[in-house]
Amino acid sequence: MSEGSPAQPTLPSTDEPRDVRVSPARDAVAAEVWEGLRTRPRTLSSKYFYDTRGSELFVEITHLPEYYPTRTERRLLERWGGELVREHRPLALLELGAGSARKTRVLLDAMEVRAEGGSYLPQDVSGDFLEDTARRLRVEYPHLQVTPLVGDLTHPLEPDLDVPRPAMVALLGSTIGNFTDPQAAEILANIREFMHEGDRFLMGADLRPSRGKSVEELEAAYNDARGVTAEFNRNILANLNRRIGTDFDPRRFEHRAFYNPDEAQIEMHLVSRGAQRVRFPERGEIPLMDGETIRTEISRKWDRGSVERLFGSAGLVLLEWFTDPHDRYALAVGGPE
Ligand code: TRP
Repeated sequence: MSEGSPAQPTLPSTDEPRDVRVSPARDAVAAEVWEGLRTRPRTLSSKYFYDTRGSELFVEITHLPEYYPTRTERRLLERWGGELVREHRPLALLELGAGSARKTRVLLDAMEVRAEGGSYLPQDVSGDFLEDTARRLRVEYPHLQVTPLVGDLTHPLEPDLDVPRPAMVALLGSTIGNFTDPQAAEILANIREFMHEGDRFLMGADLRPSRGKSVEELEAAYNDARGVTAEFNRNILANLNRRIGTDFDPRRFEHRAFYNPDEAQIEMHLVSRGAQRVRFPERGEIPLMDGETIRTEISRKWDRGSVERLFGSAGLVLLEWFTDPHDRYALAVGGPE
């Protein structure tokens, strides 16, 4: 735990009002961030990317020419969504991490909700985003029952949520890749727990480098020429400054993203430009050496075997596997064992 430093917190400097009331939520965030920066490798939780600016930048990332996952996934949904729906006949679509639900329309159209009704339950941590999405969808699909759910996809789904069955649970955007193995297994186990016989799980997974997909192409998706991903990465620091009063100087951190073949993951880091100290109200300072890195994101890459194992660990069987002609990206469909 300690790095040989005294346990005493640094006193707040005099320009810091001492009677500021620290809300418990804010203090919990500060405690988590502080711990993540003190342990090695130094990490920041990627959930702090998504303030308003971060969400905007993320949408921009999904439109970048280098960022192939979004459009590859959309094409796969356009190509196979109709067949999937005809085969499994879901009456409800529950989408985890739905965001703006852009790709979801492909599935909703295939479900013919315009004519027959049906239920769409988008879940997201960001309530504002979700309400906007729900409002727009209700206009576009007047027969659709839209039930937005504010929630964290790492938490179990409400077991007595009233969902027409069969249901399709979707986790798109290779979001599963942003979690470690044990976290991913737990997310899927929670989904499995919620599923009944006949329900289906639809997951998007970005694939490992292969004959059709070079490491360069993969790395470029996280190192776009316009620097949007770099700005997205650095925005986490500005967000934390606002939320917990740290004094990160985003200009003194460089964006670095690379593929780590041993872990089969893209890693995103912020690299300290020069030696510096980051101050936390009430807690003290984190010293960073020149070139020292903070890991902000992982994006794990998959192949059929690793998806099958992940599904298996959660009591799901892989029923269908669709990939694009370059093997860049896959849609995996699972069902209860
Ligand atoms: N899950 C997607 C991916 O890993 C989207 C994503 C999440 C992302 N965090 C990101 C993309 C950070 C770029 C940077 O690719």
